[in-house]
Amino acid sequence: MLTILNHPLINHKLTTMRNKDTGTKDFRENLDEIAGLMAYEITRDLDTVPVEVETPICKTTGQQLSKKVVLIPILRAGLGMVDGIHAMIPNAKIGHIGMYRDETTKRPCEYYAKFPEEIKDGTVFILDPMLATGGSASAAISIVKKAGAKTIKLICLVGVDTGINKVQQDHPDVDIYLAAKDDHLNENCYIVPGLGDAGDRLFGTK
Ligand code: PRP
Ligand code: URA
Repeated sequence: MLTILNHPLINHKLTTMRNKDTGTKDFRENLDEIAGLMAYEITRDLDTVPVEVETPICKTTGQQLSKKVVLIPILRAGLGMVDGIHAMIPNAKIGHIGMYRDETTKRPCEYYAKFPEEIKDGTVFILDPMLATGGSASAAISIVKKAGAKTIKLICLVGVDTGINKVQQDHPDVDIYLAAKDDHLNENCYIVPGLGDAGDRLFGTK
């Protein structure tokens, strides 16, 4: 399943991020805020269980999340999406996958992975702003599956058909959420119009 949020507030903030003149501070703040807004939609189908609660007026039955949530950012740029979602789900555990795209081959290279136990029976959200060729996302999903994850959702800011198709082909069981769908990849496999190199813009590197 592919969900494109296409929400006015998100589109407004994403436009600020796309602007080449937006500096690191505003880029980071807007990414954080968009991730927080996306939390509402990406958690829509989480299971809940009924729980008894006593209000100041009477006893009633409320709802609580029934499964653990695990956030797994793909380093580096995925780190910028953690706090916004974590603020909405403060009990979520956090894992990490270190991965970079080789500049020549454009293939993903893994350099780090560490996950909490809860990935085995929880809902896992893999976070990365950019879904370009889809190589990094697909490899990250394979890694968390190998570690025992069964319920996985991929959360990206901007994606293109190439990346969407790759993930859907390799992992048809994984739901994909995008803030926006962009047009195509350029000759360097960068998203067009995109927002440039997300990791560099987030951390002020070149
Ligand atoms: C970026 C981005 C994704 C990947 C997307 O990371 O954050 O992880 O590229 O490209 P793909 O869909 O073609 O695999 P990058 O390789 O620049 O790593 P960095 O953020 O650590 O610099
Ligand atoms: N990685 C990025 O950071 N940006 C792109 O457009 C593609 C891959």
